Amino acid sequence: MRKSLPFIAGNWKMHKNIPEAVKLAQEIKDKSLPLTSGTLVLIPPFPALYPVYQVIQETPLKLGAQNVFWEKEGAYTGEVSPAMLEAAGCQYVIIGHSERRQYFKETDEDINKKIKAVLQTQLNPIFCLGESLETRQAGQTLEIIRQQLEKGLRSLQSEDIRRIIIAYEPIWAIGTGMTATPAQAQEVHAFIRDFIAQNYGNSTAEYVIILYGGSVKPNNAFSLMREKDIDGALVGGASLKADSFLEIFQEALKAYEEKK
Ligand code: PGA
Repeated sequence: MRKSLPFIAGNWKMHKNIPEAVKLAQEIKDKSLPLTSGTLVLIPPFPALYPVYQVIQETPLKLGAQNVFWEKEGAYTGEVSPAMLEAAGCQYVIIGHSERRQYFKETDEDINKKIKAVLQTQLNPIFCLGESLETRQAGQTLEIIRQQLEKGLRSLQSEDIRRIIIAYEPIWAIGTGMTATPAQAQEVHAFIRDFIAQNYGNSTAEYVIILYGGSVKPNNAFSLMREKDIDGALVGGASLKADSFLEIFQEALKAYEEKK
């Protein structure tokens, strides 16, 4: 079974310089401890990774990065390797966020290479996928999700899949205040779990953590997290304040208790 749920990760995107990031991490640490169940991951921008790690080390809070390159080292100006992230204290890394796909032209093939490179280390990938508004309106959501899963996970084995966290983030819901309804999200989550079951077996499907992302806020977290296949959230905007981030975590804990 899936361990340490709910899983709530805060993607700070390109917000917070080092002092601001340290302050936010300190506030989250002060207000969240003792953390007796669930998983909380802080995902600051690169320069703040190690400073945030210094605040949260020796606590149950975890650190993640927002992107990674697939090569181990070399002449790749501006890129960061999986081993560098590990050395900075990361346990997780987001791969294939829609903003990377859209603004930096990342393809499903790039994402597959990144996932494979990360699996060579101890890091766990948070693999993002999701449909555009046009795709949803054309009734092609599940087809696109299937293609993203097939290409992103190409040539991986069940034991690799168990280390991957999948984040379903409908593009039209990211940063827009337009959340998917619990039923819309659950439909896609169930589809993803079914895809994993068919390709990697039932026990792997039961093991894989599937997050929802896209305008998750304290007031909608409970109804989303109550859905059977939604194991947690990837939170953008609402993760930039300790109070709203931790309220989402509390709501998710309540929903998870109800589901158990
Ligand atoms: P949002 O971002 O919560 O601000 O919509 C979610 C994400 O991009 O991970």
